[in-house]
Amino acid sequence: MKKRSLLIVALIVGMATLFVAAGIYAGTEVKDEFEMKGDYKHKKSIVNFTHKKHNVDYKIGCGECHHVDKDGDGKAEPLNDLKMGDAVQKCMECHKKPGEIKGKKAKGMKKPQKREYHANAVHDNCVGCHKDYNKKNKTKVAPQTCKKCHPKKKK
Ligand code: HEC
Ligand code: HEC
Ligand code: HEC
Ligand code: HEC
Repeated sequence: MKKRSLLIVALIVGMATLFVAAGIYAGTEVKDEFEMKGDYKHKKSIVNFTHKKHNVDYKIGCGECHHVDKDGDGKAEPLNDLKMGDAVQKCMECHKKPGEIKGKKAKGMKKPQKREYHANAVHDNCVGCHKDYNKKNKTKVAPQTCKKCHPKKKK
């Protein structure tokens, strides 16, 4: 019993040290949930993105959403080894164009070209995974429809 509680104390101290270290070297902080606002005018409302839930409860690895283009070859390398406290870039830093392109304007454009637009990249990521997940698990828990993610504007 004693040994065990000592171990637990040691673990807590160890973890606290890690967190402090991460804080000192913090590249970027992230809230448990937040509104995903691009730096542009929005037509639609947006729900909070539950970052922590996705990562912890739904057990989704960082690399499913975060990537870089290290070698500049126009392809994305997933950041599977990303840790809390590492520097992380916002989607908008690379998927720079504001809003969403679709319909006539997007005619003839390939996917990566459309993904230069912030909302196209975000939709491909969020909705893409949700669709696959729902299909695979025969469920609808992961929101797929516009309204579920963009509820009617408040007042
Ligand atoms: C399901 C997708 C998803 C997963 C999984 C995920 N993230 Fe994120 N993360 C995001 C999105 C989306 C943002 C918001 C980016 C933006 O504002 O452009 C974000 C933001 C962040 C930010 C803040 C960036 C900033 O400048 O505001 C950090 C830090 C971060 N994530 C780290 C991590 C780490 C570390 C992991 C894994 C332990 C992880 N994320 C897992 C999607 C995800
Ligand atoms: C450092 C630059 C950079 C950042 C930051 C970035 N991306 Fe990308 N992303 C790229 C590049 C380059 C590609 C490859 C070209 C393409 O397929 O669109 C890409 C591809 C994608 C793809 C296509 C599938 C894949 O993984 O190749 C999606 C979806 C995507 N990004 C969403 C996001 C989201 C969501 C964020 C923020 C959480 C984000 N990106 C942050 C550069 C970036
Ligand atoms: C790699 C897969 C994946 C990605 C990427 C992803 N999600 Fe999810 N998301 C899920 C799964 C799985 C669930 C449902 C889990 C459950 O309820 O059991 C979910 C649930 C949700 C929910 C409802 C429950 C909650 O936690 O709020 C919202 C809203 C949501 N996601 C928004 C987003 C947004 C916005 C993005 C993109 C920024 C995103 N998701 C990216 C897998 C993903
Ligand atoms: C899984 C959640 C999700 C679903 C489903 C979804 N979106 Fe989005 N959408 C987002 C996120 C996250 C952003 C990026 C945040 C932002 O800047 O608004 C976004 C951005 C946008 C934007 C650009 C920003 C703005 O408000 O003008 C438009 C337009 C948009 N979505 C329309 C739609 C439409 C239409 C549908 C249905 C066909 C849809 N979305 C479905 C999550 C979702």
